[in-house]
Amino acid sequence: MINIGIIGYGYWGPNLVRNFAETPGASVYAVADLDGKKLEQVQRRYPAVKVTSNFLDLLNEPRIHAIAIATPVSSHFELAMAALKAGKHVWVEKPITETSLQARKLIDEAERRKLTLIVDHTFVYTGAVRKMREIVASGDLGSVYYYDSIRVNLGLFQRDVSVISDLAVHDFAILDYLIGEHPVAVSASGMTHFPGTPENLAYITLFYGSGTIAHVNVNWLAPVKVRQILLGGSKKMIVYDDMEASEKIKVYDSGVSFTDDPQKIYQLRVGYRSGDMWAPKLDTMEALRVEGEHFVKCVEAQERPITDGKLGVRVVELIEAATSSMRGRGETVYIQRQEGNS
Ligand SMILES: NC(=O)c1ccc[n+]([C@@H]2O[C@H](COP(=O)([O-])OP(=O)(O)OC[C@H]3O[C@@H](n4cnc5c(N)ncnc54)[C@H](O)[C@@H]3O)[C@@H](O)[C@H]2O)c1
Repeated sequence: MINIGIIGYGYWGPNLVRNFAETPGASVYAVADLDGKKLEQVQRRYPAVKVTSNFLDLLNEPRIHAIAIATPVSSHFELAMAALKAGKHVWVEKPITETSLQARKLIDEAERRKLTLIVDHTFVYTGAVRKMREIVASGDLGSVYYYDSIRVNLGLFQRDVSVISDLAVHDFAILDYLIGEHPVAVSASGMTHFPGTPENLAYITLFYGSGTIAHVNVNWLAPVKVRQILLGGSKKMIVYDDMEASEKIKVYDSGVSFTDDPQKIYQLRVGYRSGDMWAPKLDTMEALRVEGEHFVKCVEAQERPITDGKLGVRVVELIEAATSSMRGRGETVYIQRQEGNS
């Protein structure tokens, strides 16, 4: 049984407590939050769980094996490093840290101590994204031509991070998992409509060496909630609408083909294919629950999580590149990959 201590019981922390409370092999031992009212909520809902306003109480408790961190991004590095140094496995919310340098330090520390470090990129564990990866990996989609995402709503404005760190991170992690390739360049435009606050909308383009292109549109100032991804391949195309109650994924047997036949040079050279559409059956288990079980298994078997620190640092590199491009009004930022840790 892995005893977990959770730091942060704001908007997201309660989801972690609820899921870990139901995850086989895991037990929620204690929750820390600076806000006494949040701790009262924990006590009302989970009378057996200990509460404290001081996260050090969790780190000093030998019966706690793992720490889950669901605090604002600016505190992730300090808390995760302290937890690793106390010998605890770490679950940290997305994005792993504010900077890629901080993320690399966490990876080093976890590796040196042989501790598990997982970053909660929840979308990667959804039935829909896992099915998309299955279709891409099987070759059924063909070459991935493009990824086009719209992730907009009247969002929770964050004080410390822009909409890129809040929403585009989901796409950066999904892309990494789906196509297993890191972009070579990024171009982004964005805007804040409220002086003194981080950008509340952004349009990000990612260029890949293989020729894949991705576009991500994120916005906290939209009147409706849209969560839609188009994934276009040379053989098939997928539409993923996360707002659909069922049939979140639709696979279209659509595409075009070009002929180079000199005999047909005066005829139409483009052939259009518009075949069947089907909606594959998806695993409906809550993504956090799937991820929680994966975390427990990784801790027990000393396996590397799917969303490990290295995936986390690649995502932060994209946040940094996109933010730098956005502040330069869309100038292209080339990505220099560092050897070693990622
Ligand atoms: N995986 C996802 O899909 C997802 C969704 C939403 C948020 N998040 C992530 O979860 C994290 C938290 O976001 P949120 O929206 O819940 O924030 P929040 O501000 O609602 O909650 C943060 C909580 O942490 C507490 N806290 C801060 N510093 C602390 C400390 N040193 N010790 C103890 N408690 C402390 C605060 O009192 C607050 O209750 C962020 O990293 C965010 O990116 C992830």
